[in-house]
Amino acid sequence: MSEQALRKHLEFYRDLGFEELFVGSSQAGSERASEDPETDAAAGAEVLVGRAPAPAVSSDESATPVPPASDAGSEQQLSPLQVIQEDIGDCTRCRLHKGRNTIVFGSGNPAAKLVFIGEGPGADEDAQGLPFVGRAGQLLTRMIDGTCERIGLPIRRPDVYICNVVKCRPPDNRAPELDEMEVCGQFLFRQVKAIQPKAICVLGGTAAKALLRPGVGITKLRGNWTEWGGIRVMPTYHPSYLLRGYNPEGKRQAFEDLKEVFTYAYK
Ligand code: URA
Repeated sequence: MSEQALRKHLEFYRDLGFEELFVGSSQAGSERASEDPETDAAAGAEVLVGRAPAPAVSSDESATPVPPASDAGSEQQLSPLQVIQEDIGDCTRCRLHKGRNTIVFGSGNPAAKLVFIGEGPGADEDAQGLPFVGRAGQLLTRMIDGTCERIGLPIRRPDVYICNVVKCRPPDNRAPELDEMEVCGQFLFRQVKAIQPKAICVLGGTAAKALLRPGVGITKLRGNWTEWGGIRVMPTYHPSYLLRGYNPEGKRQAFEDLKEVFTYAYK
């Protein structure tokens, strides 16, 4: 990268409100996929050929029934999110369980006005049991905090809720497959319905495919409001994609998208 390009790159982060840059500890390749903004949207296209565009994951909970928690009596003290977590249990419903260390359920404010949805845990998330804690997660944190600071909102990462389409790490950081998204997506939908946010921000092609129109890439979808289950949805780029190389335009667009979604959700 030339000195001029590097300067622009740093200026961009400064403009977002970042005061320091970090060097992530993740090994290359330990992050979740989504580095190509369109890769995820393309995956599974064969399966969907000839069908009217529909979300990769049906929001009809009866489509892939998820058994309720076995001990109904114990639900009394549990919050709605805890009930869902209990229902997930030590899940073996799809092949992803074989390679996971921990199920990464989600984190943040259970009454958040804004929910971020990523693709699936990477190595750091699998190790810690928390979403977006690796390099992409650190960028997401800085984007959230930086955007809110810039638009004068007293909101920071712990105030929103963050989760993924699939809750177990896919092997070799591959994108989740349709059947894995279908099974885990039922829990995601229950999570979102339990939180009842004012808005959702889907990060990258996989999350967009799960909730929205699978035939349309994230580059086309981003920046345009759409809707899922009566909740406004803003698609934007996945932070892993923004971390890849010199991409000031992508970062600028993501910043615009976050500004829009935070303004709607919190102002
Ligand atoms: N990428 C994701 O999509 N989710 C995470 O939790 C981390 C990286």
